[in-house]
Amino acid sequence: MTLAKIRVALFILAGFAVGGVAALALFPAAREKLLPQVSAVRSVGQAMIGGPFELTDHTGKRVSDRDFRGKYMLVFFGFTLCPDVCPTGLQVIAAALDKLGPKAEAITPILISLDPSRDTPAQLASYVQSFHPRLIGLTGTQAEIDAVAKAYRVYAKRVDDPKSTAGYTIDHSTFIYVMGPDGAYVTHFTHATPVDAMAARLAKLSAPGS
Ligand code: NI
Repeated sequence: MTLAKIRVALFILAGFAVGGVAALALFPAAREKLLPQVSAVRSVGQAMIGGPFELTDHTGKRVSDRDFRGKYMLVFFGFTLCPDVCPTGLQVIAAALDKLGPKAEAITPILISLDPSRDTPAQLASYVQSFHPRLIGLTGTQAEIDAVAKAYRVYAKRVDDPKSTAGYTIDHSTFIYVMGPDGAYVTHFTHATPVDAMAARLAKLSAPGS
């Protein structure tokens, strides 16, 4: 090839690279928009999200939704071997709670595992503690997890992944639900919500008269 042709080829390759990176960056947002579950959440209405659950926390104790009454619950679904989305979401939650200071006492952050066969209480314990001292990890039987995921309209699908332990990963929606002191749905964020926006919204919630 002549130098000019090489330059043209490099220019085209660079264009593909930039396009690829842009597509990857947009993918999580685009995926959430495309998922049928998202429109289900919007059209079914707020009252239909959430409900009773019985699970096991990261200390091995059996708990139910009723144990969390009186405070807001920040409920995120994920799994400890998640490569990127879960760590991002949990970091945002932890940073938003730290930003709230004493007001964060009114909020209980909860991670519900979508991978109960690998997420034992012990596995969850070390994971949640690496993000925030008040983060609670919940797991259970596959049937218990299926029930709570269905109640929260959570999309979760096991996908083959030879690189991951046990050969699979889990593709899942990334909503962070805010449930009120009475257990009812209030609002939701995603793992991509900016820390400041989440902290501001949560500060409003726990203020009297809001
Ligand atoms: Ni995840």
